[in-house]
Amino acid sequence: MAYNGVLSRYGSLLNIPSHTKPITLLEGNTPLIPMPRLAEELGGGFELFVKFEGMNPTGSFKDRGMTVAISEAVGRGAKAVICASTGNTAASAAAYAARAGLRAIVIIPQGKVAAGKLAGAVAYGAQVIQIEGSFDDALSMVVQISQRHPIALVNSLNPYRLEGQKTAAFEICDELGTAPDWLCLPVGNAGNITSYWMGFRQYDSLKQSGLPHILGVQAAGAAPLVLGHPVSNPETVATAIRIGKPARGEEALQAAEQSQGRIIAVTDDEILNAQRWLAANGVWVEPASAAGIAGLAHELRARKIDLKRKRVVAICTGHGLKDPEIIVRRMPIPKVLPVNLTALEALILGEA
Ligand code: F0G
Repeated sequence: MAYNGVLSRYGSLLNIPSHTKPITLLEGNTPLIPMPRLAEELGGGFELFVKFEGMNPTGSFKDRGMTVAISEAVGRGAKAVICASTGNTAASAAAYAARAGLRAIVIIPQGKVAAGKLAGAVAYGAQVIQIEGSFDDALSMVVQISQRHPIALVNSLNPYRLEGQKTAAFEICDELGTAPDWLCLPVGNAGNITSYWMGFRQYDSLKQSGLPHILGVQAAGAAPLVLGHPVSNPETVATAIRIGKPARGEEALQAAEQSQGRIIAVTDDEILNAQRWLAANGVWVEPASAAGIAGLAHELRARKIDLKRKRVVAICTGHGLKDPEIIVRRMPIPKVLPVNLTALEALILGEA
């Protein structure tokens, strides 16, 4: 049967109003990629999968939640949507709004959004506004705008975003037959970790699929949930999770506690190393998306986690193509040769 997106596949399990009018780009159904070599490199003895959410239509997991949030907004007659974003939500909101014929307004922190995300938001026709402030400042402003005007808020404060993002947990259980033992993922505004925990609990109550321990991973320079207080000037190379005051922070802490998991912080170097390991195994993700693997490696190295014969799923939330600069900035300029076979042979065979 043709695949028609997450509302079509899992709509009956989502808590959404009857006025919802499906707007889809056939999001979801992302690959769960076995990573046996990376598991060995991390010490071995366990099974590792990457759920590659970068394979969604706009290149991030946000599409799962956005299809539901926009479908609900359209169904109740909304004509415009707004969000604050570190980039991926902006691109996703812009795409689904375009699909639905709505106006999209996206507010981003100046100079802190990766090129592929900004380009996406522009390409899909959103009105993009930069503010001289952080994501947290932008979020507080869009919340006020949505309260004053008939403009639907599509950040993950919108409950329908979480309903949609739950479907990734359903997909994992459907594919593996049960929940994994551990689920590791990056944490920014904390909507996604909240959604996964909702999804796993719902599936367990319906299908006895079991529950994972959740390892949420923040960047050390933007780790309010680890520090226990907001961070006023968050900073990290993983700009997607450069957030100092997560809107769903309480729920994230509950998910970690109830699942007998935890939320930890990793350094930018650990994140970039994990990005390289993933790419060396064929999966190129943006820096924030490597945080889950970075956190897993961190815990293994500190012997704080026992994965013997366990099954682990790492959520890679966004595609590497979103943030090409991070690679290009460090990359040696590729050699340029004349059109000369001898010179090419010499170079390939290491004689030049
Ligand atoms: N990974 C990526 C690639 C993200 O873009 C985000 C969040 C996260 C992880 C964290 O997810 O916020 O649900 O905890 N990006 C948001 C945005 C903030 O505006 O695109 P979260």
